[in-house]
Amino acid sequence: MKMRFVTISAAVAAVLLLPGTAHAQNVSFSKDLVPILREQCVKCHSTRQPSGGFAVSTFAAIEKGGKGGKALAPKPDDSRLIKYLEGTLQPKMPIGGSLTKEQIAKFRAWITQGGKSDVDVGLVVIPDSAIPAVKTPVIAVKVPVLPEALALAWSKDNKFLAIGTYKTVLIVDPSTGQRIGELKGHADKIHDLQLSPDGKILAAAGGPPAQQGEIKLWDTTTWKEIRTIVGHTDYIYSISWSPDNKRIATASYDKTIKVFDATTGSEVSTLKDHADAVYAVAFDPTGNLLASGSADRSVKVWDVKSGKRIYTLAGHTDTVYSLAWNPKGNQITSVGADKTVRTWNVNPQSGNQARNVTAHDKAVEEVAYSPDGNAMATVSDDKSVKIWNAANGSTTHHIKDLGDGLQSVVFSPDSKLIAIGGYDGTVRIINAADGKTVSTIIEMPKAAPAPAAKPPAAVPAKPTPAKTDAKPRSR
Ligand code: HEC
Repeated sequence: MKMRFVTISAAVAAVLLLPGTAHAQNVSFSKDLVPILREQCVKCHSTRQPSGGFAVSTFAAIEKGGKGGKALAPKPDDSRLIKYLEGTLQPKMPIGGSLTKEQIAKFRAWITQGGKSDVDVGLVVIPDSAIPAVKTPVIAVKVPVLPEALALAWSKDNKFLAIGTYKTVLIVDPSTGQRIGELKGHADKIHDLQLSPDGKILAAAGGPPAQQGEIKLWDTTTWKEIRTIVGHTDYIYSISWSPDNKRIATASYDKTIKVFDATTGSEVSTLKDHADAVYAVAFDPTGNLLASGSADRSVKVWDVKSGKRIYTLAGHTDTVYSLAWNPKGNQITSVGADKTVRTWNVNPQSGNQARNVTAHDKAVEEVAYSPDGNAMATVSDDKSVKIWNAANGSTTHHIKDLGDGLQSVVFSPDSKLIAIGGYDGTVRIINAADGKTVSTIIEMPKAAPAPAAKPPAAVPAKPTPAKTDAKPRSR
């Protein structure tokens, strides 16, 4: 019985691997491929949240491709879809899972046969509602943690740098690169990491896409989990602690901002006024105001107590990805897809634009102020970092060719260094005074057993084949 099964499936596989022969079996888009896409891909490639700009909801969307270009080509070897499935383009798809050889062979055979749809090209073959509900038990994946560094937090005592990756937060010593710990159990990518102002708690935010937002709170002395807070109906992209360590504000793809009580985990309020996904949120130094930035191109300032929007700062011509208050609390700097860095003069009643600089060649992903308030730093999809004089808005350093998909930047507590990270997993420490790289901390944990911590200040070669033209993913 077993024998026969193996023979048959091997024969089927052989036929599929040799498409174009007289025996090649026709692969049906709707019958053979849609079930795989539904099972393995749609949770990250829905119409509502097309990772990498790529949706699998209709044949038309698949044919259109994603941010990196068309997914299909006449030959399987030239098709980016196949390259992502086989891992010659990174990150290998599906993230957090993998297809069998037979399944990949089906995609190959289908492309060889012309890559056509057997149903109307606009038919929604996988509706967003097919995305598994949040109740579905989370399946533990045994794949290596992805080489990503999407969020960073630097402790005030300079003892550790927290690096948010896929499902795991790495804790490293910023001066040596030695690994101190690994915080596991997060639902998905970690989009933001913020230390409580008293330094006692590290909050890590993200959540399963299109399902809910999740924040895990970690005790920074014992590295034990304190609690998990859930809320929202989609990813959380940004979080901020109130100065009194009591509240956490969250910005979500579900277009809302929420405020949670950090000690109980209960939801305090929901702030609604943005017309699209909210990517950034930050308390002002008094804790009375919140600022938020959204895909609706606006920056809004809110009264925390009443939960009411006080005013809107309009000017950005595309999605606002990040914002920060200066330590004095009289200016907000916001950045985003329109490549600009805008600084606004603000007070509790109103605000106006003080400066607007087209700063980078591509989207600006994050902005941070130095703790002393003298400098700012921005990271962009153009692979570069800019360091700014916060007082006059001039650029003091422009450091280029730092790798694809830079997402995160944070200053050291003494304002002298910056750490940057992104989708390629590299974390660099740069001297803010001269723009030189001080060290490169690369942490790419393999599947168990975890590798030994890297030797101090080493600049190791990248362990993953990085021959990729993969574009930084969509937010
Ligand atoms: C857990 C989430 C997740 C799953 C599951 C997943 N993907 Fe992706 N996919 C992503 C992300 C994130 C990107 C963007 C990666 C980047 O460019 O760095 C991406 C990018 C892609 C791209 C490139 C888009 C472009 O043009 O840049 C293709 C093609 C793709 N995925 C196909 C698939 C297929 C096919 C499956 C199912 C077999 C799948 N993915 C499953 C998250 C996922």
